[in-house]
Amino acid sequence: MDTQKKTIFSGIKPSGDLTLGSYIGAIKNWVNLQEEYNCLYCIVDMHAITVRQEPALLRKRSLAQLAQYVACGIDPDKNILYIQSHVPAHAELSWVLGCYTMFGELSRMTQFKDKAAKNEDNINAGLFTYPVLMASDILLYQTHLVPVGEDQKQHVEIARDIAKRFNGVYSETFILPEPFIPKTGARIMSLQEPENKMSKSEMDSDGCICLLDEPDTIMRAFRKAVTDSETCVRFDSENKKGISNLMTIYSVATGKNFEEIENEFDGCGYGDFKLAVGESVVELLRPIREKTQDLLKNKDYLEQLYTEGAMKASRIASKTLDKVYRKVGFVKKPRF
Ligand code: TRP
Repeated sequence: MDTQKKTIFSGIKPSGDLTLGSYIGAIKNWVNLQEEYNCLYCIVDMHAITVRQEPALLRKRSLAQLAQYVACGIDPDKNILYIQSHVPAHAELSWVLGCYTMFGELSRMTQFKDKAAKNEDNINAGLFTYPVLMASDILLYQTHLVPVGEDQKQHVEIARDIAKRFNGVYSETFILPEPFIPKTGARIMSLQEPENKMSKSEMDSDGCICLLDEPDTIMRAFRKAVTDSETCVRFDSENKKGISNLMTIYSVATGKNFEEIENEFDGCGYGDFKLAVGESVVELLRPIREKTQDLLKNKDYLEQLYTEGAMKASRIASKTLDKVYRKVGFVKKPRF
């Protein structure tokens, strides 16, 4: 790790397939950060099991997610790519930090309240302490910046509060992390319900495009995309949510700005516009899909990638964990 550079940590749960929303909102930005920062990008499988997962599918998705990170342009030589459950320090720090996190503050987390409402039959302790594990992810690597969407800001804030509390009791131990919401981090909305974020929870519907979707699936979803009753391609994120979302997608896929797009489709019907957006996304995703499929054929290479990633991550993580164990008064850990 280059000690001159700041550290970035982020992760995505392998609880669903990566979507066009995850690519445009997160992964595409990660690619731009790899030169300027020390970056760790994690596949947070331990977070995924806070909601019941199908084991075979979780395994398959975790590997596919790694392949997609690489296919999207995250260079495994410049970044640390790994699977959370392979680095035991996450679970170990999480236990300690849980003892410095209050029941009350976890009860106030909005994601917990939302998920508890959605999973009434499985409000497990892991769901409740999810923010503690996430704080451990971040704090283990002395992370400065955490690229996340608006919905995850509260989690970075609680990580910061926990770090402050621990530093206050035992002296400087953790860097205080900050949420990092990239300027170009366009938020992609569902094609069917453009008032909601495109989410992997609607993975099997036409509202959501997955990174590995075939061209005909993509084209069908765009043909069916919800628009409005006006027939003018114009950006208005208040009154024309569907069209504005399609314009954002088209803009990312082609590099054109909104004015150029408005001129290009001046006088055209929505049908032509939707077709053009669909085609641009097919071309945007084609190389990613092909590269992912290639990588997935080479299981040995993927195994080598995640092994190296976990080794690099472990080396950094164990420094922080040793420090924490010493500060709280644990007897020095034997090496065996
Ligand atoms: N909670 C994040 C999400 O649902 C995923 C996550 C887990 C994460 N650990 C993290 C994100 C650490 C950033 C940093 O999107």
